[in-house]
Amino acid sequence: MQSLKNIKKLGIMGGTFNPIHYAHLLSSSYVFEKYNLDKIIFIPTGEPPHKRNINIASGEHRYNMVNLAIQDNPNFLISNIEIERDDTTYTIDTLRQIKSMCDEDTDIYFITGTDTINQVYNWKETENIFKLCKFIVTTRPNYVLDDNTKNLIDKHKNKIYFCEIPKLEISSTNIRKRVEQEKTITYLLPKNVEEYIYKNNLYKTDFFKKYEKQLNILKQNLTEKRFNHSIQVAKEAKNLAIQHNVDKEKAFLAGLIHDCCKCFPLPKIYETCEKYKFELDDILKKQPDLAHSFLGYYIAKDIYNIQDEDMLNSIKYHTTGRENMSNLEKIIYIADYIEPTRPYFDGIYEARELAYKDLDKAIQYILKNTIQFNTQKGRIIHPLSIEAYEYYKK
Ligand SMILES: [Fe+2]
Ligand SMILES: [Fe+2]
Repeated sequence: MQSLKNIKKLGIMGGTFNPIHYAHLLSSSYVFEKYNLDKIIFIPTGEPPHKRNINIASGEHRYNMVNLAIQDNPNFLISNIEIERDDTTYTIDTLRQIKSMCDEDTDIYFITGTDTINQVYNWKETENIFKLCKFIVTTRPNYVLDDNTKNLIDKHKNKIYFCEIPKLEISSTNIRKRVEQEKTITYLLPKNVEEYIYKNNLYKTDFFKKYEKQLNILKQNLTEKRFNHSIQVAKEAKNLAIQHNVDKEKAFLAGLIHDCCKCFPLPKIYETCEKYKFELDDILKKQPDLAHSFLGYYIAKDIYNIQDEDMLNSIKYHTTGRENMSNLEKIIYIADYIEPTRPYFDGIYEARELAYKDLDKAIQYILKNTIQFNTQKGRIIHPLSIEAYEYYKK
């Protein structure tokens, strides 16, 4: 870290920075200008061992990203003092450490948001914190302060400033979500930070490595085209699950396995029915192709070792749907219909849009289209689909 000597007004910008993005940089630069600061020092928070979480990149990575983001700005500095501490980090300790590195008369400004200022009354050694620094609170229109904070402000009148900053709808949570969904994050953060994220594989879960065994069995049982479709359904299901707060691992795996019986030749379909004592109803007898989802239930359980009943049901009902489906069942049903390599057909864009907004509306839309399409083709509609359509129409 550069020296903190000869700085009259020093801003401190703390945060997880997981990852740092343009809203952090813009608000820092805005505060820097408005309060005539000499420098701002970015201090990424540490990661106490008990709080370690797969969604938080390591301290080293977060430090490196901040470093890249501020490298062109001589007014912005960075410190690793919180990252180096293995314990729970308290602001008072950080402030004391920074203060000891500055000149006697340096004014320290702790830059924070309204969420944080509402907690300051509860921090360790609040009174001593106010002896060491002032606060600059960046706000949005209509911000709310709780009563404890109002008392705190009364008590420390000249030590808390409020600064309205331009609104930028960028959040680290959203950036991480986008990386996971393989969507672009360009223009949300500096280019070099974006490159760093990809180079170091941050914020991604490697499902393909994890389910290598299932993938190998699947490969042997599907045509190449069907195998690729299954991968696409798995990815789409994972993204829908993230969007709708459903277990993404279950969605990915169920999506991967959903068509595991699709390429069975007829004799193998009959053989499998016999083995698991599954009786084909009249409709399945006439359209044995539809049976692949019902048989998928048994094969997924037996061969792919899936024991979760919700996952098994999402495989079982992925062709017909049914009344009152679970969210996971809906996701597999929808992902099968909208996966990105499906050739274009009428309604696909609408279905894709609905899928990420409202699962029930998407289900209703897809059931309607499918029933219409199959009727035109002269196929018999399975009663489960008709019941499902009646159910979701309401
Ligand atoms: Fe299928
Ligand atoms: Fe499928």
